[in-house]
Amino acid sequence: PPLKLKLNTADLVARVPFFDELDKGRQKRIARLLKTRLFAPGDRIITRGEIGDEMFFIADGAVRVMLDDREVTLGTGDFFGEIALITDQPRNADVEALGFSTLLALKRRDFARFVKRHPDLRDKIRKIAAERVNGGVAI
Ligand code: CMP
Repeated sequence: PPLKLKLNTADLVARVPFFDELDKGRQKRIARLLKTRLFAPGDRIITRGEIGDEMFFIADGAVRVMLDDREVTLGTGDFFGEIALITDQPRNADVEALGFSTLLALKRRDFARFVKRHPDLRDKIRKIAAERVNGGVAI
């Protein structure tokens, strides 16, 4: 029989600790907003300088963030691409897939609605974004 590859977004959401504090119903709701995107090693996911319309949660795999002076590896459970959504600035780094990766994409408009309903999660995202680009000072 043919191999059936079923990617259940709710199962993927469960792999991202960020969503742990949401109850089952809310996890289901966010799962409906997230689009599953598959990447192969070396695929470009984000290009510096472009306008960003979505952020990503890593359900499985790893990515490399290429900064001016160094590279940062993010893995399963991490998120990225949030800074363009928060600051309305162009993408501040290139990001490419390190291995085969399953990402969950959240569009700008859905992100805005989501953080309005979940201010504590908005604060979490903002805190990590500030650590990434501003030495921890609020952005
Ligand atoms: P954004 O600017 O939208 O697109 C590039 C992304 O790379 C950025 O959002 C962050 O998610 C991520 N990024 C930028 N700087 C760092 C850093 N110092 N550490 C980890 N991730 C980063």
